[in-house]
Amino acid sequence: MSIFFDSDKRMFKLDTSETSYVIGIYEENYLLGLYYGAKIPDMNFTKFMKRNPSASFSPVNPVIGEHGFSPDTAPIEYGCNGAGDFRISALAVRNANGDTVTDIRYTDHRIYKGKKAIPNMPSTYVNSDDEAETLEIDAVDKVTGAMVTLVYTVFENCPVMTKSVKVKNTSDKTIYLERVMSACNDFYTMDYDIITLWGRHVKERNIERRPLAHGVQGVESKRGVSGHSQNPFVALAKHDATEDFGDVYGFNLVYSGNFSALAECDHNCSTRLIMGINPNDFEWTLSAGEEFYAPEVVCVFTDKGIGEMSRIYHRFYNNNLIRGKYKTEKRPLLINSWEAAYFDFDKDKLVAFAKEAKKLGIEMLVMDDGWFGKRNDDTNSLGDWFVNEEKLVGGLKPLIDGVNAEGLKFGIWYEPEMISPDSELFRAHPDWHVHVANREPMLGRHQYVLDVSREDVRENIWNQLYKVLSENKIDYVKWDFNRNIADAGSALLPPERKKEFFHRFILGTYDLMNRLVTTFPDILFEGCSGGGGRFDPAMLAYSPQIWTSDNTDPIERLYIQFGTSMCYPASCQSAHVSACDRTGYETKGNVAMWGTFGYELDPRKLTDDEREIVKAQIAEYHKTYKLVRDGDLYRIISPFDNPFNAAWEIVAPDKQSFMFTLVCMRANPNSLCFVKFKGLDPDKYYTCENDSEVYSGAFLMNVGLNLTEKANRDGKSITLYFS
Ligand code: GLA
Repeated sequence: MSIFFDSDKRMFKLDTSETSYVIGIYEENYLLGLYYGAKIPDMNFTKFMKRNPSASFSPVNPVIGEHGFSPDTAPIEYGCNGAGDFRISALAVRNANGDTVTDIRYTDHRIYKGKKAIPNMPSTYVNSDDEAETLEIDAVDKVTGAMVTLVYTVFENCPVMTKSVKVKNTSDKTIYLERVMSACNDFYTMDYDIITLWGRHVKERNIERRPLAHGVQGVESKRGVSGHSQNPFVALAKHDATEDFGDVYGFNLVYSGNFSALAECDHNCSTRLIMGINPNDFEWTLSAGEEFYAPEVVCVFTDKGIGEMSRIYHRFYNNNLIRGKYKTEKRPLLINSWEAAYFDFDKDKLVAFAKEAKKLGIEMLVMDDGWFGKRNDDTNSLGDWFVNEEKLVGGLKPLIDGVNAEGLKFGIWYEPEMISPDSELFRAHPDWHVHVANREPMLGRHQYVLDVSREDVRENIWNQLYKVLSENKIDYVKWDFNRNIADAGSALLPPERKKEFFHRFILGTYDLMNRLVTTFPDILFEGCSGGGGRFDPAMLAYSPQIWTSDNTDPIERLYIQFGTSMCYPASCQSAHVSACDRTGYETKGNVAMWGTFGYELDPRKLTDDEREIVKAQIAEYHKTYKLVRDGDLYRIISPFDNPFNAAWEIVAPDKQSFMFTLVCMRANPNSLCFVKFKGLDPDKYYTCENDSEVYSGAFLMNVGLNLTEKANRDGKSITLYFS
């Protein structure tokens, strides 16, 4: 049992393998968030419930009176707008009067084994009900009739807790949700750093760490997608926390649309963190009896540092988020046509790629953008998902037969949520793009966004997808999304529901993706958005891998992959060797081997020497893919901390083997490079397969290796295998 309710104290304790989370029900049924951190056996929180240093200006509840409790200073479990709690709120409900004062109080709760899915939205799951326990707490705002259900699931074998929220209108009048965050966490102090992942196209997920300060800080997206600019992830780390030591809290939103993740430090030097759908341009009309579901937040706490937080996320996402056949089955090693040919290909060229790729050990050819409508550049045809027969004479069949005959599987590219103004679809349906009345919509890469919040639009796109995918032998789909959403609006939404557009759009995307994975369970599905512009946990619920970045330069990739690894496992980071020439093939391979390995080049153009290197690295990949997919990642030298070298290690779960890679980004003249390893079995003797030297785990972790000679040239790298 991991969820306890003490009915005398009126307190809940939710335990995972290593953490406790405590919620109290105070007088007048206020719900208080009393604790989140390392596991504790008891719940003596009485003295934490009343905190009122700034009593003179903190409103008090008239029934409770002036005895030290105020919503302004108490650790409120789910902060509401306007009823005495002045911090950033998780919930604001407007009623028919136009009032936005919101005040929820505990009414009921349920505890059960397992975890329920969130309707129409991706979420993490249990493999069996024994893995987790769930608490649902109902709290009602008696004036609006909004009944909030706070849903918590704690996992027994890993320190993960998920939070989500449902709001039901139990009144007989319509209410309006102005904000419904998914998680609200109050911390007693503000001695934390906030860690976020900022980026842009071809420079995704850079790690940024800064001390919390008074006021509101954090990250958001208003782009209609999670976006390149900020990832829906934040961590709060104690100032003294490092990669290997210290208290760290991670929060990751399972959502692909506009999000908000904010921390506020108030006048009492306490911190509130909220995370959920961005309230900007959001409002949801809830008629009598209707329900609204806010997406899930995956919360991790560890006292073992940032690296351990990452590994907890990695294991959890591999086991409890990624699903389908390719969760466990080996994914075909692919070569993608994009950087090799861009729009300039035909059947013979692609089959020639396949022929050469086969000789190298590659298992699948992916035909990227340019196969449909009349598409020969990026100015047209999105929405016309039928074969460009000028390019691919006779349709897909002869091409796929040709690729299959070379012994390779076949994959294809789509961008289903887009429409080109120059397309048959647009000419037939000039109001199907995202737009608002009387404004010429902005273009992005010459394209509009298709309004997939509409069922008729989704039906059309689905039928087009279904035709191609069901009539052809297609083993893989890359689903792209190459612009952000401006002029957000749907021709079908009435004025009072216009602010529902962004969320409805994302629900439409999920509906299409869900149809794809349920109708075609054997297809390997890869997410993409101009590289890694929609790299979030929600996408991982559909696609076990995501194209990490359009930047395939191995040195730049180090930053992108290190940043992405903050919460996303190696198994989902698509990493390709391309023809870009800052380093040789050895380093390109060593860096790409970190993730879901593949190629993105014209294999006919490889020199004989390069061909031999590529063949060897592919052979290595086939040997190590399981280690990379299931292993524990240790960031040894981060490029964000060290201008010269980067290094990481992937250790098998049983610690019997591991691989280690060092990349010299920029040689550090006359310097020495000693590296200590992490996460090994101290008593085991490991043999280095590269030179047959033998070392104990204790030696490698405490003394390390002298790798000076491996780090003396720009772009040089080495991967060592130990078992
Ligand atoms: C995006 C993707 C690329 C490629 C192109 C095709 O930029 O990230 O990998 O698929 O679109 O237009």
